[in-house]
Amino acid sequence: MDIKKLLSEMTLAEKLGQLTQLNAVFFNAENDADITGPAAKLHIGEDDISLTGSVLNFTSAALMKKTQDAAMARQPHHIPLLFMQDVIHGFRTVYPIPLAMGCSFDETLVEDCARMAAKEAAVSGVHVTFSPMMDLARDARWGRVMESPGEDPTLNGRVGAAFVRGYQGDGTDPYDIPACVKHFAAYGAPEAGRDYAPVELSEHTLREYYLPAYRACVDAGVKMIMPAFNTIGGVPCTANRHLLDTILRREWGFKGVVISDYHAHHEMVKHGVAENDKEAVALAVNAGCDIEMMSTATYRFAKELLDEGRITMEQIDAATLRVLELKNQLGLFENPYRVASEKEEKRLHLCPEHRALARRAAEESAVLLKNDGVLPFSKALRKVAVIGPFAKEQGIKGNWAGNGRDEDCVTVLAGVRTLLPDAEVATTRGCSWELGETKVPDLEEAVELASEADAVVLCLGEYQHHSGEGNSRATLTLSPAQMTLARAVLDANKNTAVVLFNGRPLVIPELSAIAPAILDMWQPGTEGGNAAARLLFGDANPCGKLSMSFPYHEGQCPIYYSHLHTGRPVANPKEITQTGYCSRYMDVPVDPLYVFGHGLSYNTYTYDNLTLSADVIHPGEELEVAVTVKNEGKRYGKETVQLYIRDKVASVARPVKELKDFVKLELEAGESAAVIFTITEEDLRFHTVSGAFDSEAGEFEVMVGKSSDELLAATFRLEK
Ligand code: NOJ
Repeated sequence: MDIKKLLSEMTLAEKLGQLTQLNAVFFNAENDADITGPAAKLHIGEDDISLTGSVLNFTSAALMKKTQDAAMARQPHHIPLLFMQDVIHGFRTVYPIPLAMGCSFDETLVEDCARMAAKEAAVSGVHVTFSPMMDLARDARWGRVMESPGEDPTLNGRVGAAFVRGYQGDGTDPYDIPACVKHFAAYGAPEAGRDYAPVELSEHTLREYYLPAYRACVDAGVKMIMPAFNTIGGVPCTANRHLLDTILRREWGFKGVVISDYHAHHEMVKHGVAENDKEAVALAVNAGCDIEMMSTATYRFAKELLDEGRITMEQIDAATLRVLELKNQLGLFENPYRVASEKEEKRLHLCPEHRALARRAAEESAVLLKNDGVLPFSKALRKVAVIGPFAKEQGIKGNWAGNGRDEDCVTVLAGVRTLLPDAEVATTRGCSWELGETKVPDLEEAVELASEADAVVLCLGEYQHHSGEGNSRATLTLSPAQMTLARAVLDANKNTAVVLFNGRPLVIPELSAIAPAILDMWQPGTEGGNAAARLLFGDANPCGKLSMSFPYHEGQCPIYYSHLHTGRPVANPKEITQTGYCSRYMDVPVDPLYVFGHGLSYNTYTYDNLTLSADVIHPGEELEVAVTVKNEGKRYGKETVQLYIRDKVASVARPVKELKDFVKLELEAGESAAVIFTITEEDLRFHTVSGAFDSEAGEFEVMVGKSSDELLAATFRLEK
């Protein structure tokens, strides 16, 4: 399609329609009533609906086709709609939440999962997914940490790029769907962890730590980007010219489409930076926002703004052209359904191959936080009790699970029963997962089952809709009821492993002290129960590593391993420091309960012989950092080897350590492997005190190990 010619034939209203996105529900004949109902409240009339260029929130190939037919018939140039959807961690087959996927430290796995989601979504008519989310997640109170790979810029960037590759492919496969990185920028740092709250970050912190993961997705070729709801320095991201124009378009060379978040234009009025919707449009267009999601202010007010000379026709044309270009790249003008097909939905959704991948992802992203030796349980056990509010809970797929359904999810109980067909597997819920619950109606039964069992699987945690958008929490502990249940069950049977379900790091110091083993499954998706059973009984070997720190206490948030130095560090950050004018808490340690990068296996891996190929490097040279890792255990396993760097003296304070590279090794029992990382001067660059992105000569510490806390170290110098 010659889209430039098409553009030249379009009316202004048609162009503005392409810059509007509405809910698919408004397009369906049977929903016409909505136009005078909810649609009218949003100032959405028949015209807007006829000319709208894209939709979100629809459910199936059949609905997509019907909507596409109706829309194209009404659109004067028969321009097809773009169908967008939040395909965040799976479509119908759901894999673990992105925070868990971060814990897999496995880019191939992430790419494979994204590919699977793209396929399932594409056959249901999805053209674009609003994923990946690259907001640095350092405050577990914020409910949306579940959507981010975690707290580290390097890890997030690598996982983000893998998501983009998985969704988008090379653009030639019919199942490729464009990705949309979000929420640009720094939505993960809201004041006090409260969703939609303001963000205050220096330009240095923004560029050094918060922007790199979005940038990694842009460099991976992501086709769309979504500005965040929040303000930074008082400027809403949707109206942030510095972000959307200077950084994104000019510095990073982004050529794709910018789409606002849901109703964000109108929220500028609520932020108090625009007097009304018309002013909001002026701000958004001049900042560089192309599509307005779920409101029609651009459609209604752009003409007046053009007449007043406050926005230009060039801006409208350029934005419209970007949208048409995306449609053209997808081949929608020739084939408006693309690969939407009811038959293919039946073939692909929840097919055995997809379930197997979802199970593997759940296994590889689970983190064994603690194990005094009770795990793995023997498969020869005769009597097992599966107890707790998540024992037979199917709501473990997590928030933002696309078209995923609880009824498709395998519970822990079902997983254990399938794995141990000859064992007697008893169960009771004990109590509910409600926040703040105090009552444990089945306490007696739970204690009885626990004392009679050979082993207990105690399933505790946070319900799937207690994290995610709008679900910030000030307390991150398990409810009093869950803790009462835990104490009683652990008292009744020491051969107990806790299985946690959670969308964020929880505050569990007491549980961690009294439970002999804790396996964190996060919200593992469709195959969660099978994965948990296989991990607990040794058919799978845990290999996930935390991508986000577990605080001792909510009062430590935000907490992350790569913090800056302080002038008054505590002598031992792992202990409560009673006295002194130092950077401490009087009641909890400075360090988290479980650190970034931590995660156990049924094997022990030893690290030895850290050697550097040189003591000094210069720009253009490579430094090889070698280490030997040995599997001292009796099973095959995977170990994520992590490399951190500390810049000892620089023109601005640098983090105590920063992850620069990692590799996930596969090792047979008794096998050892030499791992070689390569460091160059480019890896040592940062935003210096003058604002330049550069390295500074001096001494660096390089650390390699199994977590951010258990590391071998050596030093080298950079000379320039
Ligand atoms: C609001 C959320 O912030 C965003 O992540 C999502 O993509 C849109 N709604 C569309 O559902």
